[in-house]
Amino acid sequence: MTGVLAVAGGTASGKSTLAEALSLQCPESVTLIHLDDYYVPAHDPLRGVWTVSADGHAVLDWNHPGSIDETAAAHAIDAALQRPGVLLVVVEGLFALSLPSVLRRAAWRVYVETPDDIRLARKILRKIEAQRQDPRLSLRNYLQTGRDRHAAHVAPSRAAADLIVDGTASKAEMLAAVMPLIGPALTSPPAAPSQTREGCGVPDTPGVPALAM
Ligand SMILES: Nc1ncnc2c1ncn2[C@@H]1O[C@H](COP(=O)(O)OP(=O)(O)OP(=O)(O)O)[C@@H](O)[C@H]1O
Ligand SMILES: [Mg+2]
Repeated sequence: MTGVLAVAGGTASGKSTLAEALSLQCPESVTLIHLDDYYVPAHDPLRGVWTVSADGHAVLDWNHPGSIDETAAAHAIDAALQRPGVLLVVVEGLFALSLPSVLRRAAWRVYVETPDDIRLARKILRKIEAQRQDPRLSLRNYLQTGRDRHAAHVAPSRAAADLIVDGTASKAEMLAAVMPLIGPALTSPPAAPSQTREGCGVPDTPGVPALAM
């Protein structure tokens, strides 16, 4: 049986890290969909939700689920489910548990929980190290809109999760926490004799740092 795992959480909580670890664990049978790839065009003021950035420009509001092309994302999920050999489609993004079209398709729902101060520190570090961006802009955007958008559109989706994963745990520990949930999808018999599940299973990591619901 092919199923969809939705992975949500605040910005820099570790969603992509977890999703990519899952894909590496089972490269033959796991397909990733990053909701970040489904924002409406940032140059079309008639689409998405717009806001004013801290430096005074009108910009697409990246922290609002209304800026995602939900129809395109839903089509991508449905197409991935049809792909031969795929047993699990992992959909990860800020709004994976907020967008009805994604939530409806998800057999399993995970929320990566990381304290706000750690997420902000990770995000600022990433802006400086990867994009060489002045951190003052990120910090002002966070104070002006980012913090409120998280509270309004991301944090409440935690309630829809089957499993809360500790985003401060190691990658291996996050993986070990999620594998029991999706195990049934990944251990179903191969559809064709050529398909194998070699190297795909619960990693041998002591302790499962999922938080109690
Ligand atoms: N479990 C972890 N322990 C330590 N650092 C982590 C962990 N998970 C992720 N990170 C680091 O935090 C940063 C953000 O991680 P990641 O890109 O996975 O977050 P994200 O939730 O996908 O963020 P975004 O919403 O911005 O896409 C990266 O620099 C990553 O290396
Ligand atoms: Mg990400």
